[in-house]
Amino acid sequence: MVEAVLIDLFSLPANLQNIQGLLRNMLETIDKCSSIPAPFVYVMCYQNQGSDKDSEQESLLPPLRDFQNLKKKLEVVCGLTAAGALYTIKQRLDEKDLSVIKVILPPLRKDLMKVYIYHLFTAVYQFEFEDLQVASDCENLQISEPQSEGQRLPTQDVALIQREIQMYLESLPSLKGELTILRSFLIPGEIFLHGFTTRTGGISYIPTLSSCNLFSSSKRRDPQVVVKENLRRLASVAGFNPEAFHRVKIDHANAVFIMGKTEPDSYDGIVTDQKGVTIAAPGADCIPVLFADPVRKVCGAAHSGWKGTLLGVSMATVNAMVSEYGCNVKDILVVLGPSVGPCCYKLPHESAKEFYRIDPKCVRLIDSACPYIDIRKATRILLESGGILPENIQDDSVIDQSQNITFCTACHPDKFYSHFRDGTNFGTQMGFISIKD
Ligand SMILES: *[C@@H]1O[C@H](CO)[C@@H](O)[C@H](O)[C@H]1NC(C)=O
Repeated sequence: MVEAVLIDLFSLPANLQNIQGLLRNMLETIDKCSSIPAPFVYVMCYQNQGSDKDSEQESLLPPLRDFQNLKKKLEVVCGLTAAGALYTIKQRLDEKDLSVIKVILPPLRKDLMKVYIYHLFTAVYQFEFEDLQVASDCENLQISEPQSEGQRLPTQDVALIQREIQMYLESLPSLKGELTILRSFLIPGEIFLHGFTTRTGGISYIPTLSSCNLFSSSKRRDPQVVVKENLRRLASVAGFNPEAFHRVKIDHANAVFIMGKTEPDSYDGIVTDQKGVTIAAPGADCIPVLFADPVRKVCGAAHSGWKGTLLGVSMATVNAMVSEYGCNVKDILVVLGPSVGPCCYKLPHESAKEFYRIDPKCVRLIDSACPYIDIRKATRILLESGGILPENIQDDSVIDQSQNITFCTACHPDKFYSHFRDGTNFGTQMGFISIKD
C-alpha cells in the first residue's frame, strides 16, 4: 500500500499558472481517493537561486484549506539541485518510517529520477512510477501502470548525477559533533597509521545509524553514497586515501584474504605488506581486531564476533602474516577495539559452553539459561596459546584509563553502535590500519 506520494515538478518552472492547476487536480484526486488515511504527499520543485523558499512554496501551492484530508500531510520541498530536494524528502520519509512510495512525474524524467533513487535509497524502499497527468477520477490514481523499461540513460548523464549527489552530500554538516578516532599506544605511529572509529562526525541522520555509519546494507536506510561520504570524512581526518581502502566482508567465519592474491568470496580477516593501502574490519559489538608487525612491516585486520572468535579468526590472521610474509609471531602486536563487554553480552547456554571449553574464565553464570560471555578474553587466550606475547595484546586489561580504548559498545550509546542494543537497524564502526610510505 502506498504510504507516500512524491510529485516531481523539479523540471517545471514553479510559477506557471498551469502547474498550479495541474497540482490542484492531482491533490484533489489524492485527497478524495486514497483508500488509506491520506498518504503523505511531497512536492519536489526547483528553487531559483536567490529566491527564498517560502515564497516559492506559496506561489506553487493552491490554498491548503481546500484539501480536508491532506492539510497536514502535504509538503513542498524546493532545492537548488534535484539531489538536495530528493535527499530532504528522504529525510521526511525516514522520520515517519515510510517505505512504499509512488512517484508521479513527467514521463521524460523517469529514467533520470530512477538514477537518483537508485543512489539515494536502498532495497528497504519500494517505488512505483506514474506519469504526471491530470487525474480525472479515482481509478486513475489507484491503478499503477506496469513499469515499461524505458531507454537507459547515457553514461555521462549518470556520472553527472552521481557527481551532483556526491557534492551535495559533501556540503552537509557533520552530525553529533566531531569525528573522533581512538588510537592504541601499542602500534608505533612512525610505521603504521591506524585507529578505531566512533559514531560521531558523519552525515547519517537515522537515529540508530547516526552519524558515522561505515557499513551499508540493503536491509537498512543508509545508502552506499552516504557510507562513502562518511568514509571520505574519516579518511580526511585520519589521513588515508579512501580510494586505496579495503574492508573485510562479514561472514562470521575465519577465512583470510591475503591482499594481492585471489580474493575469497567472503572473509573476516585481511593482511597486507603493501604500503599506503588501508585495510579495515567493521564491528558493532563484534571486535574489530588490528594486527601490526613493525619488524617485517606487515599489518592485518579481523572482524571477530562470537562465531568468528570460536572459529579462531584472530589466529587465522596471525598465521597468514607468518606464512605469507615471514613474520615472527613474537613481533606481532594485536589490538582489540571497542566491542561488547563481558558486562553486557549474553549467549544461549549451548554456545556459552563452547566458550567455557576455551576457558571457564570466559563465561559468567554458566548455569543460567543465558550466561555472560567474554569474547575479548577468549580472543586473548587463543592468541596467547598461538604464541602471541601477552604484553603484545591490548584489550580491556589496560589499567591507565586514558590509554584504555577497549570500551563496551553496548554501554556507550553516545560513542558506539551496538547490534545487541539497537536491534536490526544498527550502524557500524570499524578499526583500520595501513603501513606508512
Ligand atoms: C577498560 O575500559 C573498559 C571499558 O570501559 C572497562 O570495562 C575495563 O574495566 C577497563 N579496564 C581496566 C583495567 O580498568
